[in-house]
Amino acid sequence: MNLSNLSTSISAFAPGFESRLQECIDVSLPVKGKLPDWLNGHLVRNGPAKFEAGLQQYRHWFDGLAKLHKFSFAGGEAKLTCKFLETDAYRIAIADKRIGLAEFGTNPSRSFMEKLANPFNPKLTDNANVNLVNLNEHYLALTETVNTMEFDCRDLTTIGKFNYDDKFAGQVTTAHPHYDFERRELYNLLIKLGPTSAYVIYKVGHGTTARKEIAVIKIKEPSYFHSFAVSANYIILVECPFVVNPLDVIVGNKTYVESYSWKATNATCVSVYRKDNGELVASAETDAFFCFHHVNAFEENGDVVVDLLAYPDAQIVQSTYLDNLRDASCSLPLSKLLRLRLSMASKTLAAENICEAGLELPRIYYERVNGKAYNYVYAPGQDNGKFLNRLVKLNVKTNELKDWRQDECYPGEPVFVARPGAINEDDGVVLSVVLDAGTNNSFLVVLNAASMDEMARLELPFIVPFGFHGQFFRNSGRK
Ligand SMILES: [Fe+2]
Repeated sequence: MNLSNLSTSISAFAPGFESRLQECIDVSLPVKGKLPDWLNGHLVRNGPAKFEAGLQQYRHWFDGLAKLHKFSFAGGEAKLTCKFLETDAYRIAIADKRIGLAEFGTNPSRSFMEKLANPFNPKLTDNANVNLVNLNEHYLALTETVNTMEFDCRDLTTIGKFNYDDKFAGQVTTAHPHYDFERRELYNLLIKLGPTSAYVIYKVGHGTTARKEIAVIKIKEPSYFHSFAVSANYIILVECPFVVNPLDVIVGNKTYVESYSWKATNATCVSVYRKDNGELVASAETDAFFCFHHVNAFEENGDVVVDLLAYPDAQIVQSTYLDNLRDASCSLPLSKLLRLRLSMASKTLAAENICEAGLELPRIYYERVNGKAYNYVYAPGQDNGKFLNRLVKLNVKTNELKDWRQDECYPGEPVFVARPGAINEDDGVVLSVVLDAGTNNSFLVVLNAASMDEMARLELPFIVPFGFHGQFFRNSGRK
């Protein structure tokens, strides 16, 4: 969609929701400022970058076709490689010029004959545009369906659909697995939708690609899960009352997300399961809220503490349709950083509001503090009720807040990269791709994580659409 002729009615950040088809390999990026000498490795980011197929438009931000961007750092220099993920969704969009698979907020249009041949909902997408993980040297692009894609981290070539070495069945998952560096295990949640639905918590051990069940929780009306939390010993599921009748996903004509409904009179339920044997050790309810992202969780004095970004309801799902995001009148609900404290003794739950800076896409020093008591979260924040317009560092213990901002600039997720040998929790940099609406271009900003001062920026050769999540890999092997 060409938005350039609609300048009077589009949001300032609409160029970040426009298709960007350029691909490139190892393009040197001019460095303004100075990159740290120690910054070596690859930031790979995932997100949508094509929002139409032929004349058909994707409707929701989460629907756009996945494109990977890799920023490679070595010896104070940086290079960019970017490439679309060659999924079935992408191939159909390019070859047939149509939307072929069921996305988060867009269903493919199907002819009468196609519906007659297959009356059930169209195949769920493999458009893995949300997140990335290195699973035992398999570089995987993830989305909320079980269709995971593997890519070569050297040149971002798509290897193909990734198949786990097991017989697990299910339709829906989260694109936010967790990794326990001490147990050397990855955890995630699989949701089976059908006449009998269930949450399946599973793990993948070191050196394997086989999942093992930790817990199977039968559920009549599954909640929408975008993420979950882990502490040292527990896996914590926060069930918001944004729920689905499973048959609506399987046989209905609604889009995937329209199959969910907000039940304001229901509670949000927090359940705590042991990592080692799946035992449910505590469960409690609190007032209804909606959440995409957990920040962290940890155990403290017999309590399980969960920090997450909470909205009063699921309106944020509606607000992130592309029509709204591209419109000059766009406004987004504000999140609160909520701290839930569940007493393992009394099984009571207390909620405390820590911050109202409208944070999203939060990151921490994951390798060191995930699942443990921590100090710092980095996240884009909004203070104008419109869109994410600054990078925030919040000390969750003291509420001290530092930020970086620039007029007409809209930053994405800030990925924290620790300095090798870091002692302090904020000894490193944060990396964020920023849309500069003033210059109509994007740059990658490198901030000193301690001070949030800008150390360097890399001017990019073209706009990078607003993405979701990225990971920093210190090495990139074959896969
Ligand atoms: Fe996410």
